[in-house]
Amino acid sequence: MQVAAQKIVVLGTGGTIAGTAGDASDNIGYTAAQVGVEQLLEAVPGLAKAAGDAMVAEQIAQVDSKDMEHAIWQRLAARCAAHLADPQVRGIVITHGTDTLEETAWFLRLVLDAHKPVVLTCAMRPATALAPDGPQNLLDAVAVATAAGARGVVAVAAGTVHGAHQVRKVHPYRVDAFDSGDGGPLGWVEEGAVRLARDWPAPEALHPQGGAAGDAAHWPRVEIVLSHAAASGRMVDLLLADGVDGLVVAATGNGTVHQALEAALLRAQAAGVAVRVTSRCPLGRVLPRPGDALQAEAEGLGAMKTRVSLLLELLAARRA
Ligand code: SIN
Repeated sequence: MQVAAQKIVVLGTGGTIAGTAGDASDNIGYTAAQVGVEQLLEAVPGLAKAAGDAMVAEQIAQVDSKDMEHAIWQRLAARCAAHLADPQVRGIVITHGTDTLEETAWFLRLVLDAHKPVVLTCAMRPATALAPDGPQNLLDAVAVATAAGARGVVAVAAGTVHGAHQVRKVHPYRVDAFDSGDGGPLGWVEEGAVRLARDWPAPEALHPQGGAAGDAAHWPRVEIVLSHAAASGRMVDLLLADGVDGLVVAATGNGTVHQALEAALLRAQAAGVAVRVTSRCPLGRVLPRPGDALQAEAEGLGAMKTRVSLLLELLAARRA
């Protein structure tokens, strides 16, 4: 017998959306990750109804997302996979801090078969603020999770739906802190209705590109280095001596790297470290040139998401 998918699962991981401040007018002097996910949901009028009165909550972690860890990602992915496989589950909402939301979104995009919606949401103001943005973001996230045809890993904030590939935090304070760059948003949520600018991710784009198994404490170590005026290769040499497995360089412009840093990266690569070149420019992508000695990441993911891709690539290589 076919079971109608009804349930909306909300997985809590912490963040400002679950943050509290001593003073309601204080939007920056708060402590993130204080309110449990069930309490958060109960505080939003109309949320349970919007979720078809079939909402369940689960606390996966309770962290300020600047402190996000691979072990939490692994736990989160495992719970998402279990819920996605449940025929009674219609979609998943994840409450998350804004600071590393894009990294978690990209990680989940790479490891999950998200044939149902997996919607990350967040807030820039704590739950105790005079005008918190979390409640509306939760309502909008549930609207996306229940939208007809919705699938894939997306992020919802300030009324905008962003794809996992495109989403980036671009502002440290504004409520509308996220952007989708050149790609533009996937759509918007207007009074509970989703208006799409592009289609949901194609089913063939949802296939997981690699699992996240094994002890997360022993996953490959991938670090990010920045090319800047007067950069040196010292950091790379130290990381190489310290046993780093992969390096992502946030390079200037179209993937150019200070000559001293480049020499160190080539030394690291010759010693077996996987190196990927991204641009520190916020928009666009690196256009690879014939004969490039270091491999460019050409999809415009940026350094933080490229770190996630390389981590999973190295993890897959270990298993091969
Ligand atoms: C966090 O990322 O957990 C804190 C900041 C925020 O959510 O805006």
